[in-house]
Formats: sequence, C-alpha cells, structure tokens
Amino acid sequence: MKSILIKTILAVIIMGALVACAENKKPEINFPPTDLSVANMIPKPLKTIATNNAFGLDQFTTIYTSQTDNGFVEVGHYLSDKISEVTKLNLLVNEKSENTVDRIIYINQSDSTDLATNESYQLYITKDSAIINSKTAEGAFRAVQTFRQIIPESSNDTLAEQPIWPIPTGKIIDAPNFEYRGSMLDVARHFFSVEDVKKYIDILAYYKYSILHLHLSDDQGWRIEIKSWPKLTEVGGSTEVGGESGGFYTQEEYKEIVDYAAANYITVVPEIDMPGHTNAASVSYPFLNGNGKKVKLYEGTHVGFSTFDTRKDTVYAFIDDVVREISAITPGPYFHMGGDESHVTKKNDYIHFVNKVEKIVKKYGKRMIGWDEIVTADIDNQAIAQFWSSKENADMAVKKGMKVILSPAKKAYLDMQYDSLSKHGLHWAAFVPVDSAYIWTPENYEGIPTENILGIEAPLWSETISTIDELEYLAFPRAIGHAELSWSTQENRDWGNYKVRLANQAPYLDRMDVKYYPSKLIDWKKSKYSYTEIKKD
Ligand code: ACM
Repeated sequence: MKSILIKTILAVIIMGALVACAENKKPEINFPPTDLSVANMIPKPLKTIATNNAFGLDQFTTIYTSQTDNGFVEVGHYLSDKISEVTKLNLLVNEKSENTVDRIIYINQSDSTDLATNESYQLYITKDSAIINSKTAEGAFRAVQTFRQIIPESSNDTLAEQPIWPIPTGKIIDAPNFEYRGSMLDVARHFFSVEDVKKYIDILAYYKYSILHLHLSDDQGWRIEIKSWPKLTEVGGSTEVGGESGGFYTQEEYKEIVDYAAANYITVVPEIDMPGHTNAASVSYPFLNGNGKKVKLYEGTHVGFSTFDTRKDTVYAFIDDVVREISAITPGPYFHMGGDESHVTKKNDYIHFVNKVEKIVKKYGKRMIGWDEIVTADIDNQAIAQFWSSKENADMAVKKGMKVILSPAKKAYLDMQYDSLSKHGLHWAAFVPVDSAYIWTPENYEGIPTENILGIEAPLWSETISTIDELEYLAFPRAIGHAELSWSTQENRDWGNYKVRLANQAPYLDRMDVKYYPSKLIDWKKSKYSYTEIKKD
C-alpha cells in the first residue's frame, strides 16, 4: 500500500515537471539524425530498436528514481555523477528543480514479467524522457552503463542556447547471457594497491562485469591480513616477484575493496590457493609445509614446488581460521580454494585435502570454486570448477553435474602476450591477439554443455607486471571483449561489428587514463583525451 502511495506521489511530481515543461515550451530542437542501432555499446544489448530522434541531455534534465526499493536512489546519484564526469552537468536526483525541467530520466522499479532476471532491464528513450525499468537496482545499474555509453563525448553547442548532448532515441531490451562475468587479479605475484583495484573495478563495471576474483596468496606473497595468524602478512606479505617489497591488504582495506565492488554491483571472490602455491604461508608458519624441504622466501616465477602438509590436523585448524576470517568479511557466495598445479602433493593426499577444505568452506556458508584440478577429488556438484587447462577435468566436472567457469588460458588469460613484440606477458599457452581473445564460442566451448557453464572469467596473472599501467596494457582491450562474450548472445557477437565499437571506446579509455594496448587490428578513434605514450628507455 505504502509503495503504491509513494509511486503515485512520484508520478504526480513527474507529471508536474512535464506539465511545467510543456507550459514553458522552448522552441523545438531539430536534431540531426541519430541511430541507436549503431551506437557504440559494449556488450551489445539483446535487442535494440532505433527510433531516429534524440533526447537532449542538458542542464534542464532531471533524474527521478523509485524510492521504495533498495538501491534505486543510489543508482540515480551514481548516474548523475557519471554524467557529470563527461558533461560537467549537475543533474538533480529526486529533487524539484528551480529551473524548468525539459526532460526526465526515470529509473523505475518494475515487476514486469518481461524482466527475466535481476540484471534484466528495459531502456526506453524518447525525445522527452529516458525510462529505465528493472526489477532490482542491479538491473538499473547495468542499464545505467548502457546509458553512459550512448552519451556523446562532446556536446553540440549549436542546437540550443545551452550545451546539449543528443542521445539517440529507441528501445533497448537487455539481459545477460551468463550471470558470472569475471576477471581475476593476481595481487600475489605483484601487489596492487587498493586504489589500483578500485580503478580496475570502475572499468569492469562500465562493461557490466559482475565478478572480481582476487588471487590473494601464492608462493611469492600472502596479501590479506589474518588476525589469528599475523605472520602470514608480516613475513609472507613482505616479498613479491623480482625482490620488491610486497604488501598486503588489512581486513579494513579488503572490506573497502569489497564495499567499492558491491557499490558497482561486482561480487568479490577471494582465493587462497592451496595445497600448492603455498610457499609464502609455509615460510610464515613452517609447520604448514609438506614438501620436506627447508622453506625460504621466494621471489621467482617457477610453479609447482610447494605443498601444505595434508595429513596434519593443525593444518586444517589453520585453514579453518583463514576461511572463517575471510568469509566473515566477504558478503558474496563464493570462496576460491585454488587447487591448481599441486605437483608435489601425492594424488591421494590431494584428494584428501580438497575433500577436507570443501567441508570447511561449506561450514562458513560459502560455495567452493577451484581450478579445474579439484574435480579429481570427491567433491559434490555444488562446487564449481574453473576450467583453465584440462579438457579432461572439464569433462569430469560436467559428469559430476558441476558448474564450470570458462577461463581457457589460450583465449581468456589476460597475461598472455598479444604477439612476440608485446612488452609484457607470457606465451606458454599462446599468443592471444585482440581478435583471438574475442573469436570463440563459450556456449559450446570444447563441447561443454551450455547449461553447465556459469560464465566466463578472464584472469590476469602478474608475473610480468607490477604497475597499474602495465596491468592495463595486458587487460585492455581484451577484457572488454570478454565482457561481450559473457553478456551478449552468440547471435549478437560478430568480430567485424565489435571491432568498430571497440575502436570507439578510445575516448572513454583515454578519459579514464587507461593505458590500453593500441592493437593495430583496431582503427582506434582519436579523442580529445588521447595521450602520447612516454617511451621508457
Ligand atoms: C593456473 O593458471 N595455474 C590456474
């Protein structure tokens, strides 16, 4: 009842604003032809119908939102902030303007059955209004990214007395192909600051990512404060690849990342990699070590030499504490236990270990994810396998009825070099140029049935990168293609069409100061923000 009353009040305010706008009728603006169907949206929406007119975004535009359902008001303010970044306009949100209101952006909670998922949305743009309908604020947030992408970078100052940004009119009906649309940052090989991670989140959000997986521990570093085991960060966090000083997130800093991601409708997946990739933990607490050798800090890049002792109760008591502390500050449903490349753990010990860790993860209310090797243990079908390497393991996951996250290294690994001239990256899986990263079909990749696929994740390992610029060089533009692969349907994906839309991301990327790799396969659009790359000697 209350909700109907508030909706009615809101409708009256909006009608009032529109009447005021009609009363103060300004001369009609004659927009040049616009075409929503050729707008540079990535990921490409499910359906786009152009009506070839324009909504003039200007200082006389106001944002209204549903105010009864969680998060819609915040999405309205977020949109106002993002519009301001491009246009310097300060659009009011749910406030009556002293100016006349010419046009309205309305972010509306809707229970329409046409909205299949929480992330589904409709965006209806006419000359006078832009209406977003979604079930939840999450759907509205995804819609807002679409809206941001169709705002021109520059205003047209000749159409009206005030600067005006013509937005093409039409209808967009949209929903994600896969719910899990992720990227991983390896903050263990090289540590990245909270600010770096936030910048990465900003860009992922623009392309409708839903997951940020943080690889928080490895042989070279332990990166998250565990209060009951302080040496993990004091000792294990002190190094990184190449002998630099490492670093770690306090729990408060980790929460800051988690909260920032949540405000961008991105879920953080924490990973503690084990039983292999555990040298930094074992140096901190040598009783954990199971490889029979004396442990010391490690700054190299070889893999597969470390293991926990899988037959000691104290090791599981330690893991229980780690999973408990991290789960308590992780609102998302997942905990990633790694499980890859445990080359010095005996097979039976590995199975025993994964079985035990799965129970601990469940005890703390999380759903376990692991790299594809975990399927060799006796885990149940609630666990999720991340397919990075072994087709045999992926097939076994399907047989067990498990969901699979697709991260095939030769397509989805962001740390693979683009080609032999790439400044950073490795090529053990393949050289992955921008077209190859995009041209594959997750829906039936390696014969995995679509219904088993939870989504796609593009991991960025950090053996060869230590700065945000280097991170961006490897991640972009390929991570943009993975966004389209995981959101857009197969019928809506086409390299020829995509590469034009990608070329037109340059103004956004430049404005965000993203040092993307300017692949020669793309005819990058010049922008007023273009930077000249400073050559390092
Ligand atoms: C991995 O690349 N070792 C998962």
